[in-house]
Amino acid sequence: MNITMIGTGYVGLVTGTCFAEFGHHVTCVDKLTDKIEQLNAGHIPIYEPGLDALVAKNREEGRLQFTTDVAGAVAGADAVFLAVGTPTSRRGDGYADLTYIYEASKELAAHLQGYTVIVDKSTVPVGTARQVARIIKEENSTADFDVASNPEFLREGAAISDFMRPDRVVIGVESDRAEQVLREVYKPLYLQESPILSTTVETAELIKYAANAFLAVKISYINEMAAVCEAVGADITALAKGIGMDGRIGSKFLHPGPGYGGSCFPKDTLALMRIVQEYGESVRIVEAAVEVNSAQKARMVKKIRDALGGSEAGKTIAVLGLTFKPETDDMRESPAVSILPALLEKGATIRAHDPKGMEEAKKYLPDGIQYVENAYEACEGADMVVLMTEWNQYRALDLDRIASLLSKPIFVDLRNVYDPQTMKEKGFTYVGVGR
Ligand code: UDX
Repeated sequence: MNITMIGTGYVGLVTGTCFAEFGHHVTCVDKLTDKIEQLNAGHIPIYEPGLDALVAKNREEGRLQFTTDVAGAVAGADAVFLAVGTPTSRRGDGYADLTYIYEASKELAAHLQGYTVIVDKSTVPVGTARQVARIIKEENSTADFDVASNPEFLREGAAISDFMRPDRVVIGVESDRAEQVLREVYKPLYLQESPILSTTVETAELIKYAANAFLAVKISYINEMAAVCEAVGADITALAKGIGMDGRIGSKFLHPGPGYGGSCFPKDTLALMRIVQEYGESVRIVEAAVEVNSAQKARMVKKIRDALGGSEAGKTIAVLGLTFKPETDDMRESPAVSILPALLEKGATIRAHDPKGMEEAKKYLPDGIQYVENAYEACEGADMVVLMTEWNQYRALDLDRIASLLSKPIFVDLRNVYDPQTMKEKGFTYVGVGR
């Protein structure tokens, strides 16, 4: 099949490359000339494990191309996927900004040839696919097309395996013709028996928000339970196991931490709140999850301050991990972006390390943070170390070395990576989350 991917951001690039790996002919389009030049020179603008090799292989085998030419890419495509950004609107009201979706729809309309399915891949409010259809009709009244919604559920850092072995594929369609095209696109997954759920367009649009909001609720719930554990002297790790063994609850997404971040949960929870408001409904549980998540970040600042004896002024804090989670260089909504400025403001010196995110971090964090080469350099002479993001390389630190490098052996583990008893035996004052 011939597939066009409009937008070479995180979702577009991963999805386009994986479709090429399925054997389809994929053309990825972006307006950013620089980005397309870089991609054509073999440079991948994001860090995602395995993506560079997969892009290289599919380009070599002639199934994956990058271009700025929308007209050429859209003509002759069986399916055109819209994977442009839908950031939270600059108005600050939580709505998703759909400018790029509408601009792309307008631009591609004139170039459609033969029957084409236009697929919303970006996370968009309910009703967007119908707007896209309206725009295309207005621009090109003879176009033969359907619109569809095909939300993505990729986790950064694990996007390729999530794509190749999904829990499910959701396709929202309004005609059999469109459904046939999308089933053909995903045929390799069908053959390996990945479930493909076909729904109406509106339901598919809402499934994405409902799934992400549910996961955000689950994380805020366990973070709140962690605070309860601290209050009553219980242990969150055992508690999470104890509830997670109930098949109805499930053990995944029950890790307490400094609060969820990233490009999806914060944006999608706010957008869902706004969408339902427009219909006179509310999602109070989601609102509470959002509030708990902000409070969790503030709670982490207090945790660090308390571990330093009540004040961070004049103290040096070693910070391990800056990205919102491991295996990505993404800093969007990372807890570090709220926590570190609060500490700096109160007079702390921060010495930070991250395996992949330091260049990105500089764009998101205030000046004045020292960036160092490795975890040990960060700890040299520091008053405390804070493990912020659970990168694998921080899971097996030489703890004796860390203890000897720190001026005071205080270890704040915001991801509960280490065992409290072992840390105590190593001479650390150890502080976790909910234990
Ligand atoms: C998420 C969804 O998982 C994915 O399906 C969707 O398409 C996009 O949003 P992603 O943002 O890449 O993916 O990260 P994810 O692994 O889900 O983690 C999100 C945040 O939650 C991270 O900040 C992570 O640290 C935090 N988290 C996750 C927890 O604090 N505890 C958990 O148990 C799980």
